Amino acid sequence: MTLLRVLQERLRAACVDCGIDEADAGRASLSHAADLRFGDYQSNAAMVLAKSAKRSPRDLAEALKASIEVEDIGEVEIAGPGFLNFRVSAPAYAERLSGLMDDDRLGVEPVESPRRIVIDFSAPNVAKPMHVGHLRSTFIGDSLARIGRFLGHDVISDNHIGDWGTQFGMVIWAWKRSLDRKSLEDNPLNELLRLYRAASERCGEDDAVREECRKELVALQQGDEENLSIWRECVSLSREGLEVIYDRLGVSFDHWLGESSYNDRLSDVVEDLVEEGLARESDGAICVFSAGLEDPGVDPFKIQKDGGWEDKPMIVRKSDGGFNYATTDIATVDYRLEELKADAAWYVVDHRQGDHFRQLFAVAARRGCRMGLEHVSFGTILGKDGKPLKTRSGDLPLLSDLLDDAVEAARKSSEGRSRVEKQEERDALAELIGISAIKFMELSHHRTSDYIFDLDKMVSMDGDTAPYLQYSYVRCRSIFAKMGGDYVPDGAALELSEERELHLARMLVRFGEMVPVVLEGFRPNLLAGYLLELARAYHSFFQSCPVLKSEGAIKDTRLALCELTARVLRQGLQLLGIEVPERM
Ligand code: ARG
Repeated sequence: MTLLRVLQERLRAACVDCGIDEADAGRASLSHAADLRFGDYQSNAAMVLAKSAKRSPRDLAEALKASIEVEDIGEVEIAGPGFLNFRVSAPAYAERLSGLMDDDRLGVEPVESPRRIVIDFSAPNVAKPMHVGHLRSTFIGDSLARIGRFLGHDVISDNHIGDWGTQFGMVIWAWKRSLDRKSLEDNPLNELLRLYRAASERCGEDDAVREECRKELVALQQGDEENLSIWRECVSLSREGLEVIYDRLGVSFDHWLGESSYNDRLSDVVEDLVEEGLARESDGAICVFSAGLEDPGVDPFKIQKDGGWEDKPMIVRKSDGGFNYATTDIATVDYRLEELKADAAWYVVDHRQGDHFRQLFAVAARRGCRMGLEHVSFGTILGKDGKPLKTRSGDLPLLSDLLDDAVEAARKSSEGRSRVEKQEERDALAELIGISAIKFMELSHHRTSDYIFDLDKMVSMDGDTAPYLQYSYVRCRSIFAKMGGDYVPDGAALELSEERELHLARMLVRFGEMVPVVLEGFRPNLLAGYLLELARAYHSFFQSCPVLKSEGAIKDTRLALCELTARVLRQGLQLLGIEVPERM
């Protein structure tokens, strides 16, 4: 059990001893101390519970202090109006460290009630560019999947690609007229994108072309053999092209249930919605309207206009009979619930789709769906000018270009200082560091905040970056290389004597307390921030505490600190989807 939980339970037991009933005692909470000068953990339980205990906060704090059992962990003090500050002793930390040495999970306990969670992330659109927005989704989703699995949840990752949409009218139109077979073989994603762009440009100029594209789409939807076979080829080539990118990113999926996988279910879904009384006809389309049970300010089916509220229905069948993104998503919810038997589905998608998901989740709730649905939304990546990132020509930058640029930046930044000599190994290292750098930049920001895409900054070794953490790992490991072998603890008791050793131990012990919190609010940035803090604690320890030159229990302890720092860094980065090199 983590220290946090042990203290939490003991605090609750103390509350009960002090005459507070069980339910109230459950409200006594404990957290990491905001300021380490006052201790390691703190609680405001005495203030929160004073009223129900019919005592003054200070009085209750005194009583809790007297009855809580902490001798084996450290000591407790009262501060201010009744805060309880807990300080963990050096021997207690040393004992925890020894425990971590034998623990593959490094103190991270599996959750008590695992859930089956579908994580819907990445989801680019076939024949459209996979851009930085998809990059955010890919990295956040992949990291949540890794963390969820590590915590013992049954995670199903699903790439809900946009493989059925209006873009196919245009792609098929251009395919029939100007397909370049050679280029399609060399780089399918680029060729499909070129076709799409060519057609969409022509549509803008010429209504007749737009009409032709629309007809191609209708033919496809009605099962025209030629169009279907072009569509099939587009989807399978896209998938191949995407797999190359995902391989490079180290990301994989359990399923690729794209939009088209739900085609057969759409008409039934709409029929059901009508039968259930949720959807009705309006101007030839079938729509879901507000149930009228909520305040319009929070009703996803209302929109403010000219000082009043207007209906903003969710269209599930267009007046031309076609189904859309919303219909597919409703069918997808059903599938995940009924076929995948999921307890939850998390959608890692751009914040601009917020309204869509509010409507989708409301429809699901009205149909009695008990799956936990979450929109894990995120903000925008900005260029150095503070505006959404664009290429010089004004397009969204392509993902593959961004990756190449990052690898190049990593190569440049390591020039002159890398200890790695073989060219091949250097290339592999630049690839690893470049891609890790982008991932870490992403995951170290709170997902809803916008951030500036600054390659030089992200590959820098001195900032809050992936290479800084990877270097810290290499540094920890280098001690063992110098020593000529791995650390084999001889079982003697560890001893923490220096303040910096103690602080590093404290950070290591926190790993198990930190990881589960990431899933509350979907915040991989907490883990990223923790790893940076751990690395800083390590460097400051390493500067002032000689390892190989020390002796006896001190040397053993310091080696254990190095070993555990390396393991926690490696495991923590791995949960963010980042690998560590053994040399840099
Ligand atoms: N393909 C969509 C896009 O690029 C994202 C799909 C997200 N998932 C979903 N179930 N709607 O915007």
